[in-house]
Amino acid sequence: MKTLKKVDLRDKRVLLRADLDVPLDERGDIKDDSRLKFAIPTIKFILEKGAKLLVIMGHIDRPEGKVVDKLRMDRVAVRLMKLIGKNVYKLDDCVGKAIPRGEKIILLENLRFHAEEEANDERFAQSLASYGDVYVNNAFGTCHRAHASTHAITKFIPGCIGLQVEEELKHLDMSKMRKPIVALIGGAKLKTKIPLIQEMLAKADKVLLGGAMIFTFYFAQGLEIGKSLNDSNYAMNAKLMLNNEKLLLPKDIVIADYEDQQAGIRTVAFNKIPKKSIGLDIGKKSVEDFKLELRKANTIIWNGPMGYYEKPLFNKATNELAKMISELDCNKIIGGGDTADAINKLDLAHKFTFISSGGGAALELLAGKELVALKALEENEINFG
Ligand code: 3PG
Repeated sequence: MKTLKKVDLRDKRVLLRADLDVPLDERGDIKDDSRLKFAIPTIKFILEKGAKLLVIMGHIDRPEGKVVDKLRMDRVAVRLMKLIGKNVYKLDDCVGKAIPRGEKIILLENLRFHAEEEANDERFAQSLASYGDVYVNNAFGTCHRAHASTHAITKFIPGCIGLQVEEELKHLDMSKMRKPIVALIGGAKLKTKIPLIQEMLAKADKVLLGGAMIFTFYFAQGLEIGKSLNDSNYAMNAKLMLNNEKLLLPKDIVIADYEDQQAGIRTVAFNKIPKKSIGLDIGKKSVEDFKLELRKANTIIWNGPMGYYEKPLFNKATNELAKMISELDCNKIIGGGDTADAINKLDLAHKFTFISSGGGAALELLAGKELVALKALEENEINFG
Protein backbone atom coordinates (compact mmCIF):
# COMPACT_ATOMS: atom_id res chain seq x y z
CA MET A 1 0.00 0.00 0.00
CA LYS A 2 1.41 3.38 -1.02
CA THR A 3 1.74 5.68 2.00
CA LEU A 4 1.67 9.46 2.05
CA LYS A 5 5.24 9.69 3.33
CA LYS A 6 6.50 8.05 0.13
CA VAL A 7 4.80 10.44 -2.31
CA ASP A 8 6.38 13.60 -3.69
CA LEU A 9 3.82 16.34 -3.03
CA ARG A 10 5.84 19.35 -4.20
CA ASP A 11 3.74 21.68 -6.37
CA LYS A 12 0.98 19.09 -6.56
CA ARG A 13 -2.75 19.58 -6.10
CA VAL A 14 -3.64 17.14 -3.32
CA LEU A 15 -7.18 15.80 -2.98
CA LEU A 16 -7.74 14.51 0.55
CA ARG A 17 -10.67 12.24 1.47
CA ALA A 18 -10.94 12.95 5.19
CA ASP A 19 -13.19 11.60 7.91
CA LEU A 20 -15.34 14.66 8.65
CA ASP A 21 -18.38 12.73 9.91
CA VAL A 22 -18.68 14.53 13.25
CA PRO A 23 -21.66 14.14 15.58
CA LEU A 24 -23.92 17.23 15.60
CA ASP A 25 -26.43 18.49 18.17
CA GLU A 26 -30.01 19.54 17.33
CA ARG A 27 -28.81 22.97 16.17
CA GLY A 28 -26.15 21.47 13.93
CA ASP A 29 -23.23 22.43 16.17
CA ILE A 30 -20.31 20.01 16.41
CA LYS A 31 -20.61 17.92 19.59
CA ASP A 32 -17.25 16.18 19.32
CA ASP A 33 -14.44 17.15 16.94
CA SER A 34 -12.19 14.10 17.57
CA ARG A 35 -12.48 13.00 13.96
CA LEU A 36 -11.34 16.41 12.71
CA LYS A 37 -8.39 16.24 15.08
CA PHE A 38 -7.44 12.85 13.62
CA ALA A 39 -7.17 14.58 10.21
CA ILE A 40 -4.84 17.37 11.33
CA PRO A 41 -1.44 15.59 11.19
CA THR A 42 -2.16 14.51 7.61
CA ILE A 43 -3.32 18.00 6.61
CA LYS A 44 -0.22 19.61 8.14
CA PHE A 45 2.05 17.03 6.54
CA ILE A 46 0.60 17.73 3.08
CA LEU A 47 1.05 21.48 3.51
CA GLU A 48 4.58 21.14 4.87
CA LYS A 49 5.62 18.93 1.97
CA GLY A 50 4.97 21.74 -0.49
CA ALA A 51 1.59 20.93 -2.03
CA LYS A 52 0.37 23.91 -4.06
CA LEU A 53 -3.31 23.20 -3.32
CA LEU A 54 -5.14 21.04 -0.78
CA VAL A 55 -8.75 20.09 -1.53
CA ILE A 56 -10.47 18.35 1.38
CA MET A 57 -13.63 16.30 0.93
CA GLY A 58 -15.82 14.23 3.24
CA HIS A 59 -19.35 13.53 4.39
CA ILE A 60 -21.51 14.16 7.43
CA ASP A 61 -24.24 11.69 8.36
CA ARG A 62 -26.64 10.18 5.79
CA PRO A 63 -28.48 12.89 3.80
CA GLU A 64 -29.26 10.26 1.15
CA GLY A 65 -28.53 12.25 -1.98
CA LYS A 66 -30.35 15.42 -0.90
CA VAL A 67 -29.13 18.80 0.31
CA VAL A 68 -29.81 19.05 4.05
CA ASP A 69 -28.82 22.48 5.35
CA LYS A 70 -27.95 21.22 8.82
CA LEU A 71 -25.43 18.84 7.27
CA ARG A 72 -23.52 21.47 5.32
CA MET A 73 -19.76 21.63 5.86
CA ASP A 74 -19.68 25.29 7.02
CA ARG A 75 -19.12 24.49 10.69
CA VAL A 76 -16.48 21.92 9.79
CA ALA A 77 -14.68 24.60 7.76
CA VAL A 78 -14.68 26.96 10.75
CA ARG A 79 -13.43 24.25 13.13
CA LEU A 80 -10.73 23.13 10.69
CA MET A 81 -9.53 26.73 10.37
CA LYS A 82 -9.14 26.88 14.13
CA LEU A 83 -7.34 23.54 14.29
CA ILE A 84 -4.98 24.21 11.37
CA GLY A 85 -4.50 27.90 12.04
CA LYS A 86 -4.96 28.73 8.33
CA ASN A 87 -7.78 29.91 6.12
CA VAL A 88 -10.08 27.24 4.70
CA TYR A 89 -12.30 28.23 1.76
CA LYS A 90 -15.54 26.24 1.58
CA LEU A 91 -17.27 25.60 -1.75
CA ASP A 92 -21.04 25.15 -1.73
CA ASP A 93 -20.98 21.97 -3.80
CA CYS A 94 -18.50 19.16 -4.20
CA VAL A 95 -18.44 18.97 -7.99
CA GLY A 96 -18.45 21.49 -10.84
CA LYS A 97 -17.14 24.43 -8.81
CA ALA A 98 -14.07 26.42 -9.75
CA ILE A 99 -11.29 26.82 -7.20
CA PRO A 100 -10.95 30.53 -6.40
CA ARG A 101 -7.59 32.00 -7.34
CA GLY A 102 -5.17 32.41 -4.47
CA GLU A 103 -6.90 29.97 -2.11
CA LYS A 104 -4.69 27.18 -0.83
CA ILE A 105 -7.01 25.05 1.31
CA ILE A 106 -10.45 24.21 -0.05
CA LEU A 107 -13.24 22.25 1.63
CA LEU A 108 -15.87 20.67 -0.62
CA GLU A 109 -19.54 20.46 0.38
CA ASN A 110 -20.94 17.23 1.92
CA LEU A 111 -20.31 14.48 -0.66
CA ARG A 112 -23.49 12.63 0.30
CA PHE A 113 -25.68 15.50 -0.97
CA HIS A 114 -25.19 13.65 -4.28
CA ALA A 115 -26.65 10.14 -4.52
CA GLU A 116 -23.77 9.31 -6.88
CA GLU A 117 -21.37 9.26 -3.92
CA GLU A 118 -22.90 6.22 -2.22
CA ALA A 119 -23.71 4.67 -5.61
CA ASN A 120 -19.96 4.58 -6.30
CA ASP A 121 -20.64 6.41 -9.57
CA GLU A 122 -17.63 6.61 -11.86
CA ARG A 123 -18.49 9.90 -13.56
CA PHE A 124 -18.98 11.55 -10.19
CA ALA A 125 -15.70 10.06 -9.00
CA GLN A 126 -13.98 11.40 -12.11
CA SER A 127 -15.32 14.92 -11.41
CA LEU A 128 -13.98 14.71 -7.86
CA ALA A 129 -10.64 13.40 -9.14
CA SER A 130 -10.29 16.44 -11.41
CA TYR A 131 -9.54 18.56 -8.31
CA GLY A 132 -6.21 16.86 -7.67
CA ASP A 133 -3.01 15.35 -9.03
CA VAL A 134 -2.65 13.10 -5.98
CA TYR A 135 -5.43 11.45 -3.96
CA VAL A 136 -5.00 10.70 -0.26
CA ASN A 137 -7.46 8.48 1.57
CA ASN A 138 -7.34 9.31 5.26
CA ALA A 139 -11.03 8.55 5.97
CA PHE A 140 -10.51 5.34 7.89
CA GLY A 141 -14.09 5.39 9.25
CA THR A 142 -15.42 5.06 5.69
CA CYS A 143 -12.87 2.62 4.25
CA HIS A 144 -15.37 -0.25 4.58
CA ARG A 145 -17.67 1.55 2.12
CA ALA A 146 -17.32 1.33 -1.67
CA HIS A 147 -18.29 4.92 -2.40
CA ALA A 148 -17.22 7.22 -5.23
CA SER A 149 -14.81 9.22 -3.08
CA THR A 150 -13.23 6.13 -1.50
CA HIS A 151 -13.47 3.49 -4.21
CA ALA A 152 -14.30 4.47 -7.82
CA ILE A 153 -11.99 7.48 -7.54
CA THR A 154 -8.93 5.22 -7.35
CA LYS A 155 -9.37 4.50 -11.08
CA PHE A 156 -8.80 8.12 -12.06
CA ILE A 157 -6.00 9.54 -9.91
CA PRO A 158 -2.83 8.15 -8.33
CA GLY A 159 -3.57 7.52 -4.67
CA CYS A 160 -2.11 6.65 -1.28
CA ILE A 161 -3.23 6.31 2.33
CA GLY A 162 -2.95 9.15 4.82
CA LEU A 163 -1.18 9.10 8.19
CA GLN A 164 -4.30 8.15 10.18
CA VAL A 165 -5.12 5.16 7.97
CA GLU A 166 -1.48 4.06 8.21
CA GLU A 167 -1.69 4.19 12.03
CA GLU A 168 -4.99 2.29 12.06
CA LEU A 169 -3.56 -0.52 9.91
CA LYS A 170 -0.51 -0.74 12.15
CA HIS A 171 -2.40 -0.89 15.46
CA LEU A 172 -5.30 -3.09 14.37
CA ASP A 173 -3.11 -5.80 12.86
CA MET A 174 -3.63 -8.84 15.11
CA SER A 175 -0.62 -10.69 13.70
CA LYS A 176 1.65 -8.03 15.28
CA MET A 177 -0.02 -8.02 18.71
CA ARG A 178 1.80 -9.52 21.69
CA LYS A 179 0.07 -12.55 23.20
CA PRO A 180 -1.78 -13.37 25.36
CA ILE A 181 -4.52 -11.35 23.67
CA VAL A 182 -7.76 -10.80 25.58
CA ALA A 183 -10.74 -9.50 23.61
CA LEU A 184 -13.51 -7.66 25.43
CA ILE A 185 -16.55 -7.40 23.20
CA GLY A 186 -19.81 -5.66 24.01
CA GLY A 187 -22.60 -3.89 22.20
CA ALA A 188 -26.25 -4.50 21.52
CA LYS A 189 -26.63 -6.38 18.26
CA LEU A 190 -25.16 -9.85 18.06
CA LYS A 191 -25.69 -9.90 14.28
CA THR A 192 -23.09 -7.17 13.74
CA LYS A 193 -20.59 -8.72 16.16
CA ILE A 194 -20.57 -12.36 15.03
CA PRO A 195 -17.63 -12.06 12.57
CA LEU A 196 -15.60 -10.21 15.21
CA ILE A 197 -16.34 -12.77 17.95
CA GLN A 198 -15.47 -15.61 15.60
CA GLU A 199 -12.18 -14.00 14.58
CA MET A 200 -11.29 -13.35 18.23
CA LEU A 201 -12.15 -16.93 19.19
CA ALA A 202 -9.70 -18.02 16.48
CA LYS A 203 -6.88 -15.57 17.20
CA ALA A 204 -7.18 -14.27 20.77
CA ASP A 205 -6.55 -16.26 23.94
CA LYS A 206 -9.69 -15.27 25.80
CA VAL A 207 -12.92 -13.62 24.67
CA LEU A 208 -15.04 -11.82 27.26
CA LEU A 209 -18.57 -10.89 26.23
CA GLY A 210 -20.81 -8.16 27.61
CA GLY A 211 -23.49 -5.81 26.26
CA ALA A 212 -27.03 -6.68 25.29
CA MET A 213 -25.88 -9.30 22.79
CA ILE A 214 -25.16 -11.73 25.66
CA PHE A 215 -28.87 -12.41 26.11
CA THR A 216 -28.97 -14.27 22.79
CA PHE A 217 -26.29 -16.57 24.23
CA TYR A 218 -28.42 -17.27 27.32
CA PHE A 219 -31.49 -17.71 25.12
CA ALA A 220 -29.52 -20.23 23.03
CA GLN A 221 -29.00 -22.24 26.24
CA GLY A 222 -32.74 -22.31 26.84
CA LEU A 223 -32.64 -19.80 29.71
CA GLU A 224 -35.30 -17.20 30.57
CA ILE A 225 -34.09 -13.73 29.50
CA GLY A 226 -37.28 -11.77 30.23
CA LYS A 227 -37.65 -8.75 27.95
CA SER A 228 -33.92 -8.44 27.28
CA LEU A 229 -32.72 -7.90 23.71
CA ASN A 230 -32.67 -11.09 21.70
CA ASP A 231 -31.31 -11.61 18.18
CA SER A 232 -33.07 -14.98 18.10
CA ASN A 233 -32.22 -15.46 14.40
CA TYR A 234 -28.63 -15.78 15.49
CA ALA A 235 -29.20 -18.14 18.42
CA MET A 236 -27.69 -21.02 16.45
CA ASN A 237 -24.48 -19.01 15.84
CA ALA A 238 -24.39 -18.26 19.56
CA LYS A 239 -24.92 -21.92 20.44
CA LEU A 240 -21.99 -22.99 18.28
CA MET A 241 -19.70 -20.37 19.82
CA LEU A 242 -20.69 -21.47 23.33
CA ASN A 243 -18.71 -24.67 22.77
CA ASN A 244 -15.48 -22.71 22.62
CA GLU A 245 -13.73 -22.67 25.97
CA LYS A 246 -12.07 -19.32 25.28
CA LEU A 247 -15.49 -17.68 25.61
CA LEU A 248 -16.47 -16.18 28.96
CA LEU A 249 -19.98 -14.88 29.59
CA PRO A 250 -21.11 -12.74 32.54
CA LYS A 251 -22.37 -14.61 35.58
CA ASP A 252 -24.55 -11.80 36.91
CA ILE A 253 -26.73 -9.16 35.31
CA VAL A 254 -28.14 -5.78 36.34
CA ILE A 255 -31.84 -5.79 35.55
CA ALA A 256 -34.72 -3.28 35.68
CA ASP A 257 -38.48 -3.49 35.22
CA TYR A 258 -39.22 -3.51 31.51
CA GLU A 259 -42.17 -1.11 31.86
CA ASP A 260 -40.25 1.39 34.00
CA GLN A 261 -36.51 1.09 33.65
CA GLN A 262 -35.88 3.39 36.62
CA ALA A 263 -37.58 0.82 38.84
CA GLY A 264 -36.74 -2.69 40.00
CA ILE A 265 -33.01 -2.18 39.46
CA ARG A 266 -31.04 -5.02 41.02
CA THR A 267 -28.40 -7.63 40.24
CA VAL A 268 -29.39 -11.25 39.61
CA ALA A 269 -27.62 -14.41 38.44
CA PHE A 270 -27.60 -14.81 34.64
CA ASN A 271 -30.03 -17.73 34.91
CA LYS A 272 -32.49 -15.95 37.21
CA ILE A 273 -33.81 -13.13 35.02
CA PRO A 274 -37.55 -12.61 35.75
CA LYS A 275 -40.02 -12.62 32.85
CA LYS A 276 -40.96 -8.93 33.16
CA SER A 277 -37.41 -7.61 33.56
CA ILE A 278 -34.81 -6.42 31.10
CA GLY A 279 -31.04 -6.88 31.42
CA LEU A 280 -29.21 -3.54 31.04
CA ASP A 281 -25.68 -4.05 32.38
CA ILE A 282 -23.38 -6.80 33.58
CA GLY A 283 -23.00 -7.26 37.34
CA LYS A 284 -20.12 -6.72 39.78
CA LYS A 285 -19.15 -10.37 39.97
CA SER A 286 -18.77 -10.50 36.19
CA VAL A 287 -16.67 -7.34 36.24
CA GLU A 288 -14.36 -9.01 38.78
CA ASP A 289 -14.16 -12.19 36.62
CA PHE A 290 -13.29 -10.07 33.58
CA LYS A 291 -10.65 -8.14 35.51
CA LEU A 292 -8.90 -11.40 36.41
CA GLU A 293 -8.63 -12.32 32.74
CA LEU A 294 -7.67 -8.82 31.61
CA ARG A 295 -4.74 -8.76 34.06
CA LYS A 296 -3.20 -11.73 32.22
CA ALA A 297 -3.15 -9.93 28.86
CA ASN A 298 -0.24 -8.44 26.97
CA THR A 299 -2.77 -7.04 24.51
CA ILE A 300 -6.37 -6.04 25.18
CA ILE A 301 -8.74 -5.38 22.30
CA TRP A 302 -11.97 -3.72 23.40
CA ASN A 303 -14.98 -3.13 21.18
CA GLY A 304 -18.43 -2.29 22.53
CA PRO A 305 -19.80 -1.15 25.90
CA MET A 306 -20.81 -3.65 28.59
CA GLY A 307 -24.26 -2.18 29.23
CA TYR A 308 -26.66 0.61 28.30
CA TYR A 309 -23.85 3.05 29.06
CA GLU A 310 -25.64 6.16 27.77
CA LYS A 311 -27.81 5.90 30.91
CA PRO A 312 -25.86 6.61 34.12
CA LEU A 313 -27.81 3.86 35.91
CA PHE A 314 -26.33 1.25 33.60
CA ASN A 315 -22.81 2.49 32.81
CA LYS A 316 -21.10 1.07 35.91
CA ALA A 317 -19.47 -2.00 34.33
CA THR A 318 -18.25 -0.09 31.25
CA ASN A 319 -16.78 2.71 33.35
CA GLU A 320 -15.26 0.38 35.94
CA LEU A 321 -13.55 -1.71 33.26
CA ALA A 322 -12.41 1.41 31.36
CA LYS A 323 -10.72 2.73 34.50
CA MET A 324 -9.17 -0.61 35.36
CA ILE A 325 -7.84 -1.26 31.83
CA SER A 326 -6.48 2.29 31.60
CA GLU A 327 -4.20 1.51 34.56
CA LEU A 328 -2.80 -1.72 33.09
CA ASP A 329 0.66 -1.79 31.62
CA CYS A 330 -0.04 -3.53 28.31
CA ASN A 331 -1.04 -2.83 24.72
CA LYS A 332 -4.59 -1.40 24.96
CA ILE A 333 -6.50 -1.10 21.70
CA ILE A 334 -9.98 0.41 21.42
CA GLY A 335 -12.03 -0.47 18.36
CA GLY A 336 -13.71 2.93 17.89
CA GLY A 337 -17.42 3.80 18.02
CA ASP A 338 -19.28 3.73 21.35
CA THR A 339 -16.29 2.41 23.30
CA ALA A 340 -14.19 5.38 22.21
CA ASP A 341 -17.06 7.65 23.20
CA ALA A 342 -17.30 6.05 26.67
CA ILE A 343 -13.54 6.45 27.20
CA ASN A 344 -13.56 10.05 25.99
CA LYS A 345 -16.38 10.84 28.43
CA LEU A 346 -14.19 9.54 31.26
CA ASP A 347 -11.27 11.58 29.92
CA LEU A 348 -9.10 8.45 29.79
CA ALA A 349 -8.14 8.44 26.09
CA HIS A 350 -4.52 9.37 26.83
CA LYS A 351 -4.09 6.18 28.86
CA PHE A 352 -4.81 3.86 25.95
CA THR A 353 -2.29 2.72 23.33
CA PHE A 354 -4.59 3.32 20.39
CA ILE A 355 -8.19 4.39 19.90
CA SER A 356 -9.47 3.72 16.42
CA SER A 357 -11.16 6.61 14.61
CA GLY A 358 -13.60 4.27 12.86
CA GLY A 359 -16.45 2.19 14.29
CA GLY A 360 -17.68 -0.07 11.47
CA ALA A 361 -14.32 -0.02 9.68
CA ALA A 362 -12.42 -1.06 12.83
CA LEU A 363 -14.93 -3.83 13.41
CA GLU A 364 -14.39 -5.18 9.90
CA LEU A 365 -10.63 -4.92 10.04
CA LEU A 366 -10.45 -6.66 13.42
CA ALA A 367 -12.83 -9.31 12.08
CA GLY A 368 -10.17 -10.11 9.51
CA LYS A 369 -11.91 -8.54 6.51
CA GLU A 370 -10.24 -6.48 3.84
CA LEU A 371 -11.50 -2.90 3.66
CA VAL A 372 -12.94 -2.36 0.19
CA ALA A 373 -11.62 1.17 -0.27
CA LEU A 374 -8.07 0.12 0.56
CA LYS A 375 -8.32 -2.89 -1.69
CA ALA A 376 -9.38 -0.61 -4.58
CA LEU A 377 -6.43 1.69 -3.88
CA GLU A 378 -4.08 -1.27 -4.09
CA GLU A 379 -5.68 -2.85 -7.15
CA ASN A 380 -5.90 0.36 -9.16
CA GLU A 381 -2.45 1.63 -8.32
CA ILE A 382 -1.74 4.40 -10.82
CA ASN A 383 1.80 5.71 -11.16
CA PHE A 384 2.55 9.07 -9.62
CA GLY A 385 3.75 11.51 -12.32
C1 3PG B 1 -18.94 6.19 10.44
O1 3PG B 1 -19.40 7.06 11.16
O2 3PG B 1 -18.77 5.01 10.81
C2 3PG B 1 -18.51 6.57 9.05
O3 3PG B 1 -18.56 7.93 8.86
C3 3PG B 1 -19.35 5.84 8.03
O4 3PG B 1 -20.65 6.28 8.11
P1 3PG B 1 -21.83 5.42 7.45
O5 3PG B 1 -22.05 4.24 8.36
O6 3PG B 1 -22.98 6.35 7.38
O7 3PG B 1 -21.35 4.98 6.10
